[in-house]
Amino acid sequence: MTLIRIPKIWESLENEITPETHYYNRRQFLKTLVNAGIGASLIPLVGCQKSSAQNALENSLNLPKISPLRKNPAFSKVDRPITDENLAGSYNNFYEYGGTKKIWLKAQKLPTENWKVEVTGLVKNPRTYDLDDLKKTFPIEERIYRFRCVEAWSMVLPWIGFPMKSLIEAVEPTSAAKFVRFTSFYDSEVTQGPSFHLGALPWPYTEGLRIEEMANELAFFAIGIYGRDLPKQHGAPIRMVTPWKYGFKGAKSIVKIEFVETQPATFWNTLVANEYDFEANVNPTKPHPRWSQATEKFISKGPGLSWDIKETLPYNGYGEYVASLYST
Ligand code: MTE
Repeated sequence: MTLIRIPKIWESLENEITPETHYYNRRQFLKTLVNAGIGASLIPLVGCQKSSAQNALENSLNLPKISPLRKNPAFSKVDRPITDENLAGSYNNFYEYGGTKKIWLKAQKLPTENWKVEVTGLVKNPRTYDLDDLKKTFPIEERIYRFRCVEAWSMVLPWIGFPMKSLIEAVEPTSAAKFVRFTSFYDSEVTQGPSFHLGALPWPYTEGLRIEEMANELAFFAIGIYGRDLPKQHGAPIRMVTPWKYGFKGAKSIVKIEFVETQPATFWNTLVANEYDFEANVNPTKPHPRWSQATEKFISKGPGLSWDIKETLPYNGYGEYVASLYST
């Protein structure tokens, strides 16, 4: 039997982010990235001339604009600048397309045409939506949210989409529905990441929320970002955004939403239950077994990868909206 090594979510960070001291020495920083075999997709971005990688990246982001675009005044800014669009679009986690941060090119294989999202389970009005239906049925708006990955890096992202609670209102869950399971697109012919994907991981990627969490004002489905349709590397055409939780709760490229009675199994929790709990609320006082969660590397300015160290806030700064969900 072949033993398949499963890279853990944290290994991306440990292998790919260099110590902060290198940030102050750009030459050393770039050299370190090259030696680590990473950053290849970022290095052309710092040259004077646009490389073909830069062009390809910009093409992957240059999608139709969403207009008119209502900006929700309650979420129009945070205390930090919005992360550079090219940087956010070239530093991603999307394990279906590989175990590194530079999957943006491979993710272009994701077939988003004629996308359908099935909403099913314990609901009065089950329905399958295509992207046009979603845009016409739900109140589309922009929300600027903090984004905190469990790997201790963070960004600020201008999502476009609609509140999850508006989908709940449309499908009317029955009183038996207590949880919701979200399933990402998976097709082993398309989503070919590294060899560890071959049968070893619990594909498809799934995530879950308690129904009260899904009904919270903050819980959001994104169908766009930076004023345009959602790029494939960010989880086109529709993904979850729950800014008070670690980023892995935000399943990408969703094909199915099921209202269920019991807590569903989820991808990372199935793999490493003691390190990725179902709730996964951002909590600076609860360290990950391998590193502290007290601070984060805030990635904001391009063109190269750099960051500022910031303190991590309970619930990622969204306690006023969500803390009551967790008071027993
Ligand atoms: N969804 C799917 N289907 N597959 C993934 O590997 N990674 C998660 C989340 N959603 C992931 C996923 C993790 S660990 C993070 S941090 C975010 O997506 C990253 O989102 P971004 O690349 O748009 O910043």
